Amino acid sequence: MNQNKRGGAMSKRKMLVAGNWKMNKSYAEAVNLAQQLSYSSKEWEVESCVCPTHLALKAVANVFAFDHAPIKFGAQNVFWEEDGAYTGEISASMLKDLGCSFCIVGHSERRELFSEGSEQIARKAFSLIQQGICPIVCCGEPLSVYEQAGATEYVARQVREVLEILVPQLEAAGISLTPEKLVLAYEPIWAIGSGKVATPEYANKIAERLRAELATVVSEDLAAGVRILYGGSVKAANAGMFFEQEHIDGALVGGAALIAEDFSEIVKQAGCVA
Ligand code: PGA
Repeated sequence: MNQNKRGGAMSKRKMLVAGNWKMNKSYAEAVNLAQQLSYSSKEWEVESCVCPTHLALKAVANVFAFDHAPIKFGAQNVFWEEDGAYTGEISASMLKDLGCSFCIVGHSERRELFSEGSEQIARKAFSLIQQGICPIVCCGEPLSVYEQAGATEYVARQVREVLEILVPQLEAAGISLTPEKLVLAYEPIWAIGSGKVATPEYANKIAERLRAELATVVSEDLAAGVRILYGGSVKAANAGMFFEQEHIDGALVGGAALIAEDFSEIVKQAGCVA
């Protein structure tokens, strides 16, 4: 086991590599990718998760179950109501029914294209936590904010706004927010799908600031235990540098998650620093 900035065996937070397939892969292609991942997963040592489209979730789940593959699966979006007249939407209890462990919320593509804000993101996270599904809450600054060196406060505010709505809702429901119930993903928007990556040191500084925010708004325990992923053009060639950072506990992978060998290589690299 490597001694690294994460403190090697000292780090209590377990690495997580999540793949966001976005609106890609037909049903047959999704099954095929799941089969390839399932085969590769024999060599993986850390927690992994893939998020296909809702339409392919059950098929991907079946492949992993059939192969006894240790890969978790999740959704890319959810609606906060449990059931009812909400045409086109899917609830957290439906995701639970399929066996989802995670669900991405607040991805920048949803914030930008579907005008999702902190209120909606918090409600989605709440409905997921109620069902025992871990939300992967995304944050990240646009290029203009990055260029003005305002990213740290921008993303801290994004996370604070969600927590300030989410935590009282959980308290009212008698649920305490413990570290395993939440994952954050820091994804600078200018790095998503662009081939540009943040430097590992920069991403680590932002993740450290997010921990400070968790400590202020909720508790030191949460700040120390919540996993923070980096996302934005993560590839096999750069993933290892992020995984060595003290405050980064894995990756949210888009493009490279669509190719089995690439995703597998990233998960294996996470295993080297876990
Ligand atoms: P990317 O996407 O790896 O293709 O940049 C990451 C994401 O949007 O989650």
